[in-house]
Amino acid sequence: MSNSEKVSGHLEPWSSLKGKVVLITGASSGFGWEFSIDLAKAGCKVITAARRLDRLKSLCQLINSFQSSSCDTPLAVPLQLDITADPSVIEAAIQQAWRAFGYIDILINNAGVRGTTSPALNLSNEEWDRVFKINLDGAWLCSKYIAICMRDAERGGSIINISSISGLNRVKGTGTLAYSSSKAAMHTMTTVMALEFGAHNIRVNAIAPTIFRSEITKGLYEQKWLPGVLSKIMPLPFLYDASTNPAITELIRYLIHDSSKYVTGNIFIVDAGGTLPGLPIWSSL
Ligand SMILES: NC(=O)c1ccc[n+]([C@@H]2O[C@H](COP(=O)([O-])OP(=O)(O)OC[C@H]3O[C@@H](n4cnc5c(N)ncnc54)[C@H](OP(=O)(O)O)[C@@H]3O)[C@@H](O)[C@H]2O)c1
Repeated sequence: MSNSEKVSGHLEPWSSLKGKVVLITGASSGFGWEFSIDLAKAGCKVITAARRLDRLKSLCQLINSFQSSSCDTPLAVPLQLDITADPSVIEAAIQQAWRAFGYIDILINNAGVRGTTSPALNLSNEEWDRVFKINLDGAWLCSKYIAICMRDAERGGSIINISSISGLNRVKGTGTLAYSSSKAAMHTMTTVMALEFGAHNIRVNAIAPTIFRSEITKGLYEQKWLPGVLSKIMPLPFLYDASTNPAITELIRYLIHDSSKYVTGNIFIVDAGGTLPGLPIWSSL
């Protein structure tokens, strides 16, 4: 039994999210895959979205095996969606997703790419556009069309944007111009949407994670020097094998649950304190 399973329900009411319907973009790998499984285990119905339909189908098959085969409705359904598509295509896909379970309570804008790590002066205009179209425009359009559905249904809702520590106004890295700029813009988008959507009881928050294992960070995690560096720059003990669960999943569960009903417009940093020194402590390495 895990530590969180030992805590009784009244102390962490967000451990059970039965009845909530969640749409997760970028569910075909990495964070989105892990979030989908965790939320289904908490009782959510999950709509998993991405371009790679075969992977979404495998994920949904796995999640649906958690419940007895006699259940009428599945726990998870796939939604093939390219968030760089024409806005009318995204709007239609969001409406299709809404109909899957009759409503949606939560959108997790998780799909994102890091892009190339070219120095700014070598960064192609096409690459800048590609990164922004996925990391920012895609999240905006999904938010816009889901918020319209939430407003019209008068159900309220919660939008959770997965940004990055790269979007914070501390610890910038070279070769990340497009990625960092898109994630910083996502933070601004989060706060302005929170301001405007509040009238419809829709909360909007962002989570800015540090580096966790996933497809995006696969190469980095293969570097032999990484554990030593992490042990020196992280204020809190950061497990080299740290996974998103429970580091990010517990926060997502909280932001879904009504316990967080007064929480909106925040950027939650999940980094074991790693960005606190501002300047990485490279001199001590
Ligand atoms: N891993 C980390 O350490 C880390 C740290 C900070 C922030 N983040 C952020 O966390 C999010 C998830 O990252 P990850 O590490 O899990 O990356 P990942 O494993 O590469 O997953 C990225 C997901 O985005 C989807 N995606 C990419 N382009 C898309 C498009 N045009 N339309 C729809 N979906 C698209 C991919 O699905 P398809 O290819 O099937 O479409 C995939 O499911 C990203 O926003 C990333 O910036 C990650």
